[in-house]
Amino acid sequence: MVGQIPKELVEELRKAKKIGVLTGAGISAESKIPTFRDAMTGLWASFSPEELATPEAFARNPKMVWDWYAFRRDMCAKALPNPGHLALAELEKRYEQFTLTTQNVDGLHQRAGSQRVFELHGSIARVKCTDTGRLLEGEIPECDEPPPLHPETGGLLRPDVVWFGEMLPAEVLQESAKAARNADVYFTIGTSALVYPAAALPVEAQRAGATVVEINPTETPFSLLATFSLRGKAGEILPALLAALDD
Ligand code: OAD
Repeated sequence: MVGQIPKELVEELRKAKKIGVLTGAGISAESKIPTFRDAMTGLWASFSPEELATPEAFARNPKMVWDWYAFRRDMCAKALPNPGHLALAELEKRYEQFTLTTQNVDGLHQRAGSQRVFELHGSIARVKCTDTGRLLEGEIPECDEPPPLHPETGGLLRPDVVWFGEMLPAEVLQESAKAARNADVYFTIGTSALVYPAAALPVEAQRAGATVVEINPTETPFSLLATFSLRGKAGEILPALLAALDD
């Protein structure tokens, strides 16, 4: 697999001082967390986003949405970081400026040891009051009829994730856009490049003159723009890239 890493890319990485990374559900696929749009295995294959990941869906059927996220929260808690997550955590140690922006809510980058992680779409491990946005401290309260209520505010608890139609955390987006504009090398890994504003980040990096590397087993709308488009699994290509750097 090391042979699959273009030597020009290794040279760029050896010269680089500032690295930016955008990850999507694909980097967690090898941790057995389903992606959203892969046919059949993708989460949306059995559910439509509109039914589950919108404020309207939650208002219409809070229990169904809560239960779906509780199922996913449990799956994420049981999942383990894979060699792709671990390689990114190792790569971060080698650069003075390394910014990892993820669309994923599974927390696996942090569990792999990545330090500087920006969660564009929030975190499934956190829950907050629907009315006030106040995060829950400590354990999620047991209740007969989910969703449970926030013990301080009394409002319905909901996952602290960004739903369709909701604003992304402004500071996270600003920091991620700055990292994209300033990167010497920018990676876009395991994302279908379909959901904005996340999908705009590699385009911003490319426009600002970065070397942009896409890692994905299949083509995406971004592939033609990438400087290097590496066809394959993140869990295989990233460790090979690290090994090529150490050669
Ligand atoms: P998608 O499911 O849209 O895309 C997953 C991508 O990962 C696809 O391009 C796959 O080809 C690729 N992939 C699959 N296995 C891989 C592997 N082992 N290594 C590398 N790549 C692999 O997921 P996202 O692009 O993350 O938003 O979706 C973006 C957003 O749409 C999500 O954050 C979510 C969803 O709606 C919200 O919930 C707000």
